Amino acid sequence: MTTEGGIVVPRGFLWGTATAAYQIEGAAREDGRGESIWDRFAATPGKVRAGDTGEVACDFYHRYRKDIELMRELGVDAFRFSVAWPRVVPEGRGRIEPRGLDFYDRLVESLLEAGIRPFPTLYHWDLPQALEDAGGWTSRSTAEAFVEYAEAVVARLGDRVRDWTTHNEPFCSAWLGYAEGRHAPGRRSVADGLAAVHHVLLSHGLAVEAIRREAREARVGIVLDCVPVHAAGDGLADRDAARYVDALRNRLYFEPVFHGAYPDEVLAELAPARPPLRPGDLEAIAAPIDFLGVNNYSRRIVRAGESGEPVDVRASSGAPTATGWEVYPQGLYEVLTRIQRDYAPPVVYVTENGAAYSDVRTHDGRVHDPERIAYLDGYIRATARAAAEGVPVRGYFVWSLLDNFEWAEGYAKRFGLVYVDYPTLERVPKDSFAWYGETIAQARLPEMAASAPEEVRRP
Ligand code: FCB
Repeated sequence: MTTEGGIVVPRGFLWGTATAAYQIEGAAREDGRGESIWDRFAATPGKVRAGDTGEVACDFYHRYRKDIELMRELGVDAFRFSVAWPRVVPEGRGRIEPRGLDFYDRLVESLLEAGIRPFPTLYHWDLPQALEDAGGWTSRSTAEAFVEYAEAVVARLGDRVRDWTTHNEPFCSAWLGYAEGRHAPGRRSVADGLAAVHHVLLSHGLAVEAIRREAREARVGIVLDCVPVHAAGDGLADRDAARYVDALRNRLYFEPVFHGAYPDEVLAELAPARPPLRPGDLEAIAAPIDFLGVNNYSRRIVRAGESGEPVDVRASSGAPTATGWEVYPQGLYEVLTRIQRDYAPPVVYVTENGAAYSDVRTHDGRVHDPERIAYLDGYIRATARAAAEGVPVRGYFVWSLLDNFEWAEGYAKRFGLVYVDYPTLERVPKDSFAWYGETIAQARLPEMAASAPEEVRRP
């Protein structure tokens, strides 16, 4: 399948794919890796669909060289992956496990050999269980432990890795994990949720400084998910409900990181629970960053319920993805331009965007996924449009390279450009893989022409 009209992006734009350690690595008990909260959560009956766990996942831990070959074939510039804290510091604090660091060293080396820029994230939700047992993200000492862990990783890889992300989506690790209980560690308390949000953000701010101390050339950022929240109707009640969801879902993270303050309406609504603030915390959280990663998949439409509470409404048109999320490419344009207007980060990457569909291997042995191609085409064009209008978007990463362990959904939701046959772990590039490769090659053409020697350039 081809799509109409070339995609124009700024010079030096990075094309990539994104993944996370617990979702792809497997090898959960190998080379001294400690238990993580996701191992524990997945082993608890009823928490993850069909009792799936990340124990084997895509076995990336052993197959990463082959997967890098696939990325080379795809032609990406960059690879976003995460480092598993329990591989590097199995008990969360103290003893470093050299075999854990060795793995990421080999991974980085192999990426660089393939000409692919490593984009590691230090925390993509797999807290060492030992730290959870001591309070997890509700405890301030977890933020201190995160800084020590970050220092150990950067000390080892900082001579070759430039682009460091502290956290992926604090909303999910803190709020879904501690307030709503839908993710590990599965706690359900607003007070715990707010404490976790605060300590995750604090650990980010403290790590920004620590990473720069360890590696002078480092560029440091954070990945926040951003969801456009629309009011279902024009009335005041619907608009208020949408504004509140936006504050709880988006501004609770953007405001402290960029403006050093929590949104008043969230604090008022969630009182008497409060973030456990100490003097200087908000300044630490607002440490200037080099880039912001934005994850976006869909939008929310909200109306006011009987007593004004927000109620989600389904979009009336268009087929949703397999996760039930509306396909709304305009939403990515909206969040990128809004972030630019309200927060003006120096550089932005779209660090995750993609879709799950019910992919199957057909009789020809292939996986035809025209819906994913249409989805990605729409969202990449929305990204290019924002860039053309001056938002400093410098890259786009598809979620995900491989089908993988989709958290509470287990293996049921396939987001990959590459199909994974779980019983054999065989990789089968989908049609969208070929399409993304062509899209990247096409988008690079003007740049290649511009840098070609003069005689080649003349008609
Ligand atoms: C994001 C997560 C990522 C993946 C996608 C589908 O919220 O960061 O790990 O699960 O959703």
